[in-house]
Amino acid sequence: MTRLLDCRQLQAQYGAVKVLHGLDFGVKEGGITTILGANGAGKTTTLRAVCGMVKTGGEVELGGMRIDGRSTEQIVRQGVAHVPDGRGTFVNLTVEENLRMGAYTRRDKAQVEADYERIYRYFPRLAERRRQQAGTLSGGEQQMLAVSRALMLRPRLLLLDEPSFGLAPRIVQ
Ligand SMILES: Nc1ncnc2c1ncn2[C@@H]1O[C@H](COP(=O)(O)OP(=O)(O)OP(=O)(O)O)[C@@H](O)[C@H]1O
Ligand SMILES: [Mg+2]
Repeated sequence: MTRLLDCRQLQAQYGAVKVLHGLDFGVKEGGITTILGANGAGKTTTLRAVCGMVKTGGEVELGGMRIDGRSTEQIVRQGVAHVPDGRGTFVNLTVEENLRMGAYTRRDKAQVEADYERIYRYFPRLAERRRQQAGTLSGGEQQMLAVSRALMLRPRLLLLDEPSFGLAPRIVQ
């Protein structure tokens, strides 16, 4: 299998505080890669570094193209979706508006419409609450929405930070 993502000597820092000190790893096309580590080890920072959300060094390649140094927006346009830790939804927007935001860069409108229905089949709870403000959803419902919003991008690479947070085992499955 070829590598979809390749990180070489990845570094990251917050101000003067260096958190990642030259990390090498890859994600195979069609594969699942899991990052394990203690609290504070740098897992969240690693995902942020791939998305260009923190000051980085080293090289990040997506599908053979360098994306390090690009803006987060450009990286999203290359098909990288990020579900941040701790219920990353737009709390003032409705469920449906959150999903629409996830599909913001897509031009295949008919397929986007079909994908709303696909998401609502995965998570019927979201369908019932499609006009409800995200901030008023329960914690688990917000997590369903955060994952769903990322899926609406039809990403090539999906970065999930603690995706099972607050979810019932059946929903995690
Ligand atoms: N915005 C920030 N400013 C300064 N330091 C930060 C910032 N965010 C994270 N750090 C520090 O970077 C280190 C790595 O944090 P990170 O959130 O990547 O860890 P993690 O592996 O995701 O931990 P957890 O399992 O608790 O989620 C920690 O020492 C943390 O204090
Ligand atoms: Mg974390």
